[in-house]
Parts: sequence; C-alpha cells; structure tokens
Amino acid sequence: MPKVVFVNPDGSEKEVEAANGLSILEVAHKNDIELEGACEGSMACSTCHVIVDDEWFDELDEPTEEEEDMLDLAFGLQETSRLGCQIILNDELDGIKVHVPAETRNIG
Ligand code: FES
Repeated sequence: MPKVVFVNPDGSEKEVEAANGLSILEVAHKNDIELEGACEGSMACSTCHVIVDDEWFDELDEPTEEEEDMLDLAFGLQETSRLGCQIILNDELDGIKVHVPAETRNIG
C-alpha cells in the first residue's frame, strides 16, 4: 500500500495510506486534504494542481500534452507542478510527497 505525504500550505505534513490505482486527487479527497479537483479528473480544470517534491518528480511518467495545457493555466505554477488527478499511485510511488498550493483558481 503506497503512502502519500501531503504538505499543506502552512507547512504541516500529513501522511496517509493510499491504494494502488488511486489518483493523488482521490487520496486527497478521502483524507480531507484541501484539494479541489472541480472536474473530478477529466482534465478540464486545474484546481487539482499539486507541486510534487523535487525528489519525486522524476519518478512520475511524463505529463501528457493535455495535462501540460491545463497546468499552464494553474495558479502558482512551479517546475514540478502536476495535476493531482493524473498522478496514479503504485508501489514505486510509495512515500511520494506533494505540496498543496496555497490558492487555486478555477478557470472552469
Ligand atoms: Fe480537474 Fe484534475 S480534477 S484537472
């Protein structure tokens, strides 16, 4: 069972149990993490934007073009930004750390 560490905007960390096949967004919702995900993972918003910890960023598959396009619209974009709904957990990602951005902007 992979674990996910969420870093809240105030710097506090929360480690939660996840399951293979779940997205970061789904795990966040199950654990009351403040991540919006307005479009429920259909890549039509950027409110599930998370900033992946540097150490973990390279472990992830490359984002698709659609994801890149949505990310361009995300508020507070960083070099290691990804859409939380597009990161699907597996054993290799056990312990992945993601930062929840302070603000999101829903562009619809
Ligand atoms: Fe909308 Fe991820 S939930 S793009």
